[in-house]
Amino acid sequence: MKDAASAREMATGRSTPLPAASGGPAILVRDLTVRFGGGAAPPVLAVDRVSLSLKSGEFVSLVGPSGCGKTTILNLLTGLLPVAMEGKVTILGKPPRPGNPDIAYMLARDSLLPWRTALGNAAYGLEIRNVPVQQREAQARELLARVGLADFCNAYPKALSHGMRQRCALARTFCLGSPVFLMDEPFGALDAQTKLQLEDVLMDLWSAAQRTVLFVTHDLAEAVALSDRVIVMSARPGRIIADVPITLPRPRSVRALQKDEEFHKLYARLWGLLEQGSGSNGS
Ligand SMILES: Nc1ncnc2c1ncn2[C@@H]1O[C@H](COP(=O)(O)OP(=O)(O)OP(=O)(O)O)[C@@H](O)[C@H]1O
Ligand SMILES: [Mg+2]
Repeated sequence: MKDAASAREMATGRSTPLPAASGGPAILVRDLTVRFGGGAAPPVLAVDRVSLSLKSGEFVSLVGPSGCGKTTILNLLTGLLPVAMEGKVTILGKPPRPGNPDIAYMLARDSLLPWRTALGNAAYGLEIRNVPVQQREAQARELLARVGLADFCNAYPKALSHGMRQRCALARTFCLGSPVFLMDEPFGALDAQTKLQLEDVLMDLWSAAQRTVLFVTHDLAEAVALSDRVIVMSARPGRIIADVPITLPRPRSVRALQKDEEFHKLYARLWGLLEQGSGSNGS
């Protein structure tokens, strides 16, 4: 019983041990400049002197026109992008490194393993981290139930709809218990109703687990509904043009917000900023 209870607590993040707070930012990007190309390819200035900082437990969205460097910034934070950069990037005070267990990365494509069931996929990250089978499966089941997949634990990805696969990927991400989440348009390919449902699930999971989230989206309504702040980037070369606090009270219901006047004002403000920043020239 004790094991099941602690697995449940870990699954909801209430007692998952987080690294001791250093007092510094959870994510720090300072004066980051990234250029691709060289050699035969013409050089591309993708990111130009970008600085941003997330406190531990903050939910921050990054929005900006296609090609402005949002994914590049996330990839650099994971340590997976072998590209020369200028500036400084840290996660919990340390430089990025591939396989950093402090980071969970969720993409628009669900990238589930087709030969594993939903349960096997949700528990996969914990398996790699050598969490005992009973404990990891209890955590994975709990999270699959939270995302509405309790009855599909034994289903393979091919038997799940796209929205269900993305729910499974969300369960897998939260199962990891990492203190920092990087999410790159995780709900970008979903229908409007499934998206609202999953945004509410994400809010529930995040508020229980208090992770730091850097969330990339093209959906300004999603950014306003979920975030503590929304950072707006210009067109390439990506620069930060605004950092807008979202003061809507929490807890929030993403669905209920759709009728909230303040929500719509913030949306309109962000839309104006995005339009202003869309005129930059690529180089
Ligand atoms: N590995 C790479 N090699 C060369 N150029 C790259 C590479 N990755 C990204 N770029 C270039 O860097 C710029 C930023 O790309 P990035 O994928 O970060 O944009 P984005 O803001 O995530 O766009 P989107 O919203 O369309 O996903 C683009 O001009 C892209 O062509
Ligand atoms: Mg991208």
